[in-house]
Amino acid sequence: MPLICCVSPKGGVGKSTMAANLASALASDATLRVVAVDLDPQNMLRLHLGVPLHQVRGFAQMLDQPHLWHQVGQRTVDGVTVLPYGAMDMGASVNISARLEQAPALLAEPLRILAADPATMVIVDTEPGPSAALRAILPHADVLLTVLAADAASAALFADIESGRAYGHGLPAAQYFIINQFDPMTRLGPRIARSLAAQMGPRLLGMVHRDEYVPEALAAQQSVAAYAPRAQASHDIAGICRKLLMALGRR
Ligand SMILES: Nc1ncnc2c1ncn2[C@@H]1O[C@H](COP(=O)(O)OP(=O)(O)OP(=O)(O)O)[C@@H](O)[C@H]1O
Ligand SMILES: [Mg+2]
Repeated sequence: MPLICCVSPKGGVGKSTMAANLASALASDATLRVVAVDLDPQNMLRLHLGVPLHQVRGFAQMLDQPHLWHQVGQRTVDGVTVLPYGAMDMGASVNISARLEQAPALLAEPLRILAADPATMVIVDTEPGPSAALRAILPHADVLLTVLAADAASAALFADIESGRAYGHGLPAAQYFIINQFDPMTRLGPRIARSLAAQMGPRLLGMVHRDEYVPEALAAQQSVAAYAPRAQASHDIAGICRKLLMALGRR
């Protein structure tokens, strides 16, 4: 099944939030096995999915031994299997990056094999902007899911995303977008969102409102849907999940 890659040239827009919450929403379909993989040395994805802070093991600590990665995979209450990056100091994560530059297959091959299982959907969270990990998996990604905010910085980056310059060559066939942290009460938000939406067309899977329940859910280490099922953001994310499944031909 598809390898879905949550990306953005912009930091802090909500990549990890979207990757985690979409993984949880997708896992509510009992016929799917959902694996959420964290390629960001910040190692935050696990926290969105309820893995305790003190659990710091991850696949990057055993990059050469993919047959052991299952040992660090964590099954969440939502039924997602999270593969954390693992806690590392800066030197170690820079070394991982350098190794992936030299040998991208160390990462790409295990993820490709995982996604080749017809019952498994793999959703990957990435660090902002270019990275060796993103470059390694891009040729194998089936869906590139770019998260942007409805702000001037995101709008300014859109041309580079559209042209492929932001991600380099080897773009997968399917590129979709999410506009996150949309606030209809601001002067600029709706104007920028309208302009981005017009440029994205049907590739826009949806907008997620800025919603206090989202950071609260992270603090509570739950998905937004579990923490606040009636929240606007829960509604928005459920809609995006439905559209994503339709785009993947699953509905
Ligand atoms: N729709 C939203 N409404 C309110 N807060 C949000 C929303 N989406 C994300 N946030 C908050 O914004 C912060 C950044 O989100 P997140 O960590 O998911 O961004 P990111 O793109 O993964 O960041 P980074 O580039 O550092 O990896 C978090 O505190 C998160 O709870
Ligand atoms: Mg992140």
